[in-house]
Amino acid sequence: MNSEPSFADYFSQVQSTPGWEAILQSFARFAALPPHSRALDVGCGPGALARHLARDGHTVIGVDADPLMVDRAQYLATGIGGVTFEIGNVQKLRFEDGSFDAALATNVLFLIHDPAVGLREMARVIKPGGIVVMLNPSPNLTLAAAESLADERQLDGVARVSLVNWARAAESHRRLSADDARALFAAAGLTQFECVEKVGGGLALLAKGVKRNA
Ligand SMILES: C[S@@+](CC[C@H](N)C(=O)[O-])C[C@H]1O[C@@H](n2cnc3c(N)ncnc32)[C@H](O)[C@@H]1O
Repeated sequence: MNSEPSFADYFSQVQSTPGWEAILQSFARFAALPPHSRALDVGCGPGALARHLARDGHTVIGVDADPLMVDRAQYLATGIGGVTFEIGNVQKLRFEDGSFDAALATNVLFLIHDPAVGLREMARVIKPGGIVVMLNPSPNLTLAAAESLADERQLDGVARVSLVNWARAAESHRRLSADDARALFAAAGLTQFECVEKVGGGLALLAKGVKRNA
């Protein structure tokens, strides 16, 4: 039997740190979904954002490419109504055009080979007038910046390790500037672009856009 901790084990711990929880709450405030939205959380991991949105009265489907993440998300959402999870790929979603009011992705698009493909899929599955919201590392998220923030906040354990790992992932994959995000949103047919930098003076870029009416 394999007793090695999985990425789902690790990420469940990450999502339960006060720092990560604060980031997801700040993201939900930035998203500002209209009441009772039907929302898709892509790359949901163990499902903290999806649970948060469901508790706020939205109906949420969380999708993740990793079956262990989906199992964990289902387990952690036991007893919470309005949220379901399934396996899926942001680059090829199974949903019809215009199925949702909003599609969200935190710390996912920067990991994939072509974020434009993922963002186009998210835009496709929302209704005209619906919103797409994402969070990714900003160009400020370097290993040095993460270590300095961890020192300043006196983080240890998984709180420190996850912040440093996030910076490592950003350095080895991609960071998105406001101009990068604006161009990606425009290419996906999303207007009314808004963005803001958050987390320790701007390590994360949060961006939002609205699907044009046909
Ligand atoms: C860094 S974790 C972020 C989890 C969660 N969104 C959060 O912010 O806490 C990235 C997640 O994206 C998932 N993922 C990576 N590529 C994906 C893809 N192409 N489609 C769907 N999920 C993907 C991973 O399995 C993982 O759960």
